[in-house]
Amino acid sequence: MVLRKQLGPSGIEIPEIGLGTWHYSGGPEPLRCGFEAGAWFIDTAESYGSETVVAEAIAGVRDRVFLATKVSRQNLRRSSLLEAADRSLRQLRTNHIDLYQIHQPNDDIPIEETMGAMEELVDAGKIRFIGVSNFSVRQLQQAQAALQRHSIVSNQVRYNLIDRTIEADLLPYCAANKITVIAYSPLGRELQRLRDADPSGVLQQVAAKTGRSVPQIALNWCLRQREVVVIPKGSSITHVRDLCGGSGWRLEPPELRLLDERIRFRRRSRWELALRRAVPRGFGKVLQPIVRRLPSGIRRRLQ
Ligand SMILES: NC(=O)c1ccc[n+]([C@@H]2O[C@H](COP(=O)([O-])OP(=O)(O)OC[C@H]3O[C@@H](n4cnc5c(N)ncnc54)[C@H](OP(=O)(O)O)[C@@H]3O)[C@@H](O)[C@H]2O)c1
Repeated sequence: MVLRKQLGPSGIEIPEIGLGTWHYSGGPEPLRCGFEAGAWFIDTAESYGSETVVAEAIAGVRDRVFLATKVSRQNLRRSSLLEAADRSLRQLRTNHIDLYQIHQPNDDIPIEETMGAMEELVDAGKIRFIGVSNFSVRQLQQAQAALQRHSIVSNQVRYNLIDRTIEADLLPYCAANKITVIAYSPLGRELQRLRDADPSGVLQQVAAKTGRSVPQIALNWCLRQREVVVIPKGSSITHVRDLCGGSGWRLEPPELRLLDERIRFRRRSRWELALRRAVPRGFGKVLQPIVRRLPSGIRRRLQ
């Protein structure tokens, strides 16, 4: 059974495990199996190319699904944003989106213009709730201040056992301001990355002790935070069923302590985050061959 959590200040609850669909290749069946297991929450984006498979998966059960999608950062001007929302509605074959998220901030476009367009969409009944993604505390504050009638209910950001950057300031800020954190890449984007950061094998030990799988341990670790829900991606029925078993129970304090103590993680500093934001988009790919030659400790910080 997938437990539910409050969605920010919205007054509604959503499943604490949702189904991610970035680079998703599984067709509608695994997603439907996720619904059957209680994960009635699905995350897509106009840029993922998965809105059409999501439409297939939700056909006939739309009313039960909490449907989240995202507008890309190049579409944050009012007219582009309104057009993008209409395009997503058509692709998803629905008359409303439950959670419409700004995929990434864009400092070149006034936030007042973007948030004004988001509010128009709520008022028109095309979206129910406004969310953001990859926003820092400062960007969240500016976005919230630009809203007149509605609130930001969520911020979708990377959070997992090996990247705990948000624990420094974003997570406490969201907790204090009733903003749900939707944790993306909760399995570290590839399970092997978690294993590489676990030299003493505690993930396997805790999995054996609790009778759970390693992915379930990784998800449940994120879910120990009251305001966090997770959106792992599984492309097969087996993987999705396994992921849904990450909810419905809780790791005990000694197990959490062991994971906290033994798994190597990073918390990016402010300057590191600022540097990453300053690197022009697309330039990261050019740097990849150089980064791959660096010692693993430095490489992990940069990737
Ligand atoms: N807002 C953003 O900027 C942003 C950025 C990244 C991701 N996201 C969202 O977050 C979602 C999840 O993140 P993610 O796709 O980066 O990575 P993730 O969920 O951390 O990891 C996905 C990987 O784990 C594997 N996996 C899943 N279940 C497994 C299982 N039971 N056993 C073994 N391996 C398993 C998947 O394999 P298979 O595919 O073979 O099942 C895939 O290789 C995305 O799909 C997307 O919706 C958002």
